[in-house]
Order: sequence, then structure tokens, then C-alpha cells
Amino acid sequence: MEITPIGIGAWAMGGGEWTFGWGPQDDSQSIAAIHAALDRGVNWIDTAAVYGLGHSEEVVARAVGGRSNRPYTFTKCSLVFNDKREISNSLKADSIRRECEASLRRLKVDTIDLYQIHWPNPDPDVEEGWGAMAKLKAEGKVRWIGVSNFNVAQIERCRAIAPITSLQPPYSAISPEVEDEILPYCEKNRIGVIVYSPMKSGLLTGTMTKARVAKFPEDDFRRRAPSFKEPELSRNLELAELMKTIGARHNRSAGEVAIAWTLRHPAVTAAIVGVRSPGQVAGVIGAIDFRLTAAEIAEIAAFRQQRMSTAIS
Ligand SMILES: NC(=O)c1ccc[n+]([C@@H]2O[C@H](COP(=O)([O-])OP(=O)(O)OC[C@H]3O[C@@H](n4cnc5c(N)ncnc54)[C@H](OP(=O)(O)O)[C@@H]3O)[C@@H](O)[C@H]2O)c1
Repeated sequence: MEITPIGIGAWAMGGGEWTFGWGPQDDSQSIAAIHAALDRGVNWIDTAAVYGLGHSEEVVARAVGGRSNRPYTFTKCSLVFNDKREISNSLKADSIRRECEASLRRLKVDTIDLYQIHWPNPDPDVEEGWGAMAKLKAEGKVRWIGVSNFNVAQIERCRAIAPITSLQPPYSAISPEVEDEILPYCEKNRIGVIVYSPMKSGLLTGTMTKARVAKFPEDDFRRRAPSFKEPELSRNLELAELMKTIGARHNRSAGEVAIAWTLRHPAVTAAIVGVRSPGQVAGVIGAIDFRLTAAEIAEIAAFRQQRMSTAIS
């Protein structure tokens, strides 16, 4: 499977009214955003069963059904929801199988291109869950299998059972923690890495403001996220301003700079970029081919060294 350097992230397309929602979202805008990204050459979408409790997968199916340039579809399991809209973790083999069948139905496909364990919880069931994923692959229900939010020890436990195609970790200039151990491990062991929240869920787009954060709807999870609260918020918005300045030199947006910052790391295969409208696609699509110079990477590192607690390269 050959994927483009950026893929469409469909979390916010799940909409609001669930624990990790992004406030109200118009499905027609989500579908138009997916079409705009596909028309500009993006060839994959990342979703999850839990996004909008099945809604994001249904929107993806509506958007890509009947398209000639059908993208690869990646989804995830292990966060299970019930009729009362309560979410729990499961890595039990029978639960993963049930989840896979439900995702195939919602996505209206015979095979999922990449099936990922969303979170390694509960930890003692990691082996059982990964064994179930390997069986689904052997049966052809899914083409490739990956993990998300796993640490090195958990990845090693899985690799003893079956190969891991990809890891999906958080990674941005605000959250570079995976640089310490996880990215070098994946690079060394040739595990693909598709990073999530490269713009820290909107903070590094160059359009986020304190006024907007103060007005997030009740059902936008970002109201509760530490990086959207002081003292982190002011510093994060300053970093977005620096990215805006760097981008302006090339006629690129701060978001494109933030995504390019993640793609500069040799372990990173591609970045998953969340979009909610065709206008937002237009503002980030340049990240498909925009790359930072060594001097610009150093500028961002200098800001981080001065203003953030961990120094990074
Ligand atoms: N495996 C996991 O645990 C996990 C966790 C998180 C994310 N993910 C995946 O990674 C994807 C991307 O992460 P993410 O959605 O958190 O964050 P992101 O890509 O860092 O940010 C996306 C958000 O930025 C804003 N935005 C996008 N383009 C913009 C533009 N041109 N101008 C202004 N604002 C713009 C939108 O939010 P607003 O308009 O609302 O500001 C959008 O929802 C998700 O969709 C999901 O597929 C996976």
C-alpha cells in the first residue's frame, strides 16, 4: 500500500453529543471536505468506530461510495459503545470480531484496508487482542493491521505474535514525546508511522484564538484539554504565530508548517490531518508537498527550547 504524505482524519466528522465530540458538525460539509481532499490527490482516510459512535464511519461510507478514486480506509477497534452511549475498553477476541463486522457494515466494504487497535487497554489483554487482529487479517476481513497509542513494550509483545504494519501515535511540535523512544524503535524495526493531531487538534492552524477557545461548545472535548488551557494555551498560540511567520515566507499556512514539522522526522510515514470543510482542506492541502528547511526547523527548536520545558531537535 502506497499512501500520500497526508491522510484525512475523520474524528471531528463524528460530530458532537458524545464524550470526545467536537461540537456540532454538518455531514454535508464533512462529505464535501472528503471530496475536496480526494480531488487534490489524498488517497487515504483514518476513522474509528468510536468517532461519533459509528457516525464518522457512516459519513465516510457516504462520501466515498461510488467514487472512482476510492481512498484506502483505515479504522480502529477496542473502544466499545452501548445503546446508552457509554464507552468502554475491550481487547477480548470476540469483541474485536464483533466490532470488525460492525465497521465493515457501516463502511459498506468487504475489507478494511488498515485495522488498528485504538488504545492498548486493558493492558493484560493486549496479546489476546493482537491475536484476534492477526486472525481477521488471515481471513481477509482486513488487509493490514496496526496499533495506536502503544508503547515500545506493548509493540514488542504484539510483534512476538504477528508483524505490526503501522503505529498511530500523537505527534506535533506541542507534543513531541514519541521522539524519545517510540519513533527510533519504529524506524529501526521498519514499522510504518502515521501520526495523529499534527496541528494539535486545531491549536497550530494559525486561526485559533483565546476568544474562540472560550466559546467552544459544551460538547467540544477541547474545552477540557490541558493544551487549550492556561498556562499552556498562551505559549501554544505563540508557537502557532511563529509557524504563521515561517509559512508566510512560502505562501503557506501555519497548519501546513505544523504538518511539515512532523513529516521532517525520518520515522514518520505520513500525518493524519483533521478537516471539517472544503475551506479547511484548501488551507492544509499544501502539506502534501511542503517541506521545511533546516534553518526553519532550527527556528522552531529554538522557540521550544526557550519557551517549552522539553528541548527537541
Ligand atoms: N488514535 C488516536 O487515539 C487518535 C487521537 C486523535 C486523533 N486521531 C486521528 O488523527 C486525526 C487528526 O487529528 P486531530 O483531528 O485531532 O487534529 P489536527 O489534524 O491536528 O487538527 C484538526 C482540526 O484543525 C482545524 N483545522 C483543520 N484545517 C484547518 C484550516 N485550514 N484552518 C483552520 N482550522 C483548521 C479543525 O478544527 P476546528 O475547525 O474545530 O478548529 C480540525 O478538526 C483525527 O481526525 C483522527 O483520525 C487519532
